Amino acid sequence: MVCAGVCLLLCLLCSDVVLAESNGVDINTLRKIIDYFQAKFSPGENKPYGVAINVHQDYCSSKFDSIQDRFLPNDTQQAVQKGLKKSFYKGQELMAAKTVAMKVQKLSVRAEYILLYPPNPSKSPLQVLLDRTEPDSCVVFYTLTAPCVRTCANVNGPYSLLPGLDLLTKYQGPKAFVFSQPWNGDEDASGSLKEIDQHVPLYRCTHQCVACRGSQGDDPINKECIN
Ligand SMILES: *[C@@H]1O[C@H](CO)[C@@H](O)[C@H](O)[C@H]1NC(C)=O
Repeated sequence: MVCAGVCLLLCLLCSDVVLAESNGVDINTLRKIIDYFQAKFSPGENKPYGVAINVHQDYCSSKFDSIQDRFLPNDTQQAVQKGLKKSFYKGQELMAAKTVAMKVQKLSVRAEYILLYPPNPSKSPLQVLLDRTEPDSCVVFYTLTAPCVRTCANVNGPYSLLPGLDLLTKYQGPKAFVFSQPWNGDEDASGSLKEIDQHVPLYRCTHQCVACRGSQGDDPINKECIN
């Protein structure tokens, strides 16, 4: 009975989210935004990094082509690359991080984790970015590699991304969580991808972008997002 109640509540929340997002990110434009990140900000081929932007919503619409020369004017390639050489870039409309290897064992701090959890958790880079939100802005959160399955997308995991993503769940404007490379571990990633999609609409962008899930609460994760 408890489960039935909880599930019903979750489904009701899902349908609210879907309605609020009818004014979402244009999927062809999303491809252009990710191309822009890859061309300008990648710290090296296959080096994992993450970027979060908060821009006027026209940049997430089909108007992108006609206004792209004014896209992210204050977050230049040079400045972002310089920040990423160390590990982190903090800009006006953009925050970027790369995954940093730790000296101990084989641990690394993933880029998306850095964007969601700085030392002071009430002011993660994402929070700082959202604090500057104009009512009509659009937020795109990009990570080269799919969020890790074992811990990052597990609400009880020690490095869970989900509490940090709650900020984006609450955010009402157009928004997208995007990755390019699929999870390469043995585990099935569909459960954790679904978990993330329930927080923020999830996309995978390679040569094109696909939504990882249909708009119905119980739609399965699209195969193109898994491998
Ligand atoms: C870029 O920086 C200038 C000068 O600080 C500022 O006036 C302008 O609003 C900024 N543009 C954006 C899109 O943040």
